[in-house]
Amino acid sequence: MPQNEAKRLAAEKAIEYVEDGMIVGVGTGSTVAFFIDALGRIKHRIAGAVSSSEQSTARLRGHGIEVMELNDTGELALYVDGADECDPHKRLIKGGGAALTREKIIAEASEKFVCLIDPSKQVPILGRFPLPVEVIPMARSLVARRILALTGGQPVWRDGVVTDNGNVVLDVHNLSIIDPVAMEKELNQIPGVVSVGLFARRPADVVIVGGEPPQVL
Ligand code: 5RP
Repeated sequence: MPQNEAKRLAAEKAIEYVEDGMIVGVGTGSTVAFFIDALGRIKHRIAGAVSSSEQSTARLRGHGIEVMELNDTGELALYVDGADECDPHKRLIKGGGAALTREKIIAEASEKFVCLIDPSKQVPILGRFPLPVEVIPMARSLVARRILALTGGQPVWRDGVVTDNGNVVLDVHNLSIIDPVAMEKELNQIPGVVSVGLFARRPADVVIVGGEPPQVL
């Protein structure tokens, strides 16, 4: 099955988790774009959405869905997002779309995190996909040196990319992440790191793997 079709099928399945009157947390990326389009069809049933990126905000508004501030909504019942990799414990690498920090904030604020993937994202051990790390611009070189020393992975500056928060992204190559919780914690300690694209301390609660039929893990 084409990857995009698997993404679309996962997104359609996720609509089953949306309940009447909900404010839905919405992630970022091509899989989530399918979810937003599906949400548009049932927009009369929801109160609105909290968005993780300017990109998703524009798409939500395009469908006439109200985008709300997390500071006003408080905790959310549901967050739906994609991922770049997913291990058997529902721990994730995210941030391929550079929206990791806001995604992490909304995941933390949400009772249920439903993650949508196509089968190519399933891995036994995280790290084949380069790990995104959002960094304050002045700390870019410092953080890269510390990451190399701590992990042995090769940080590569995602040149030309500025996050919605005005920061830069380092993608760390050649990692094999045996203990994702420990690595998330360790990298978070480096001054200048805004957030790490490991979602291990707060993994997904439900993973939907797109297919015919979709698989719910
Ligand atoms: C954005 C993300 C995305 O969820 C991740 O990159 C997957 O994207 P896609 O659905 O386009 O494959 O973490 O920061």
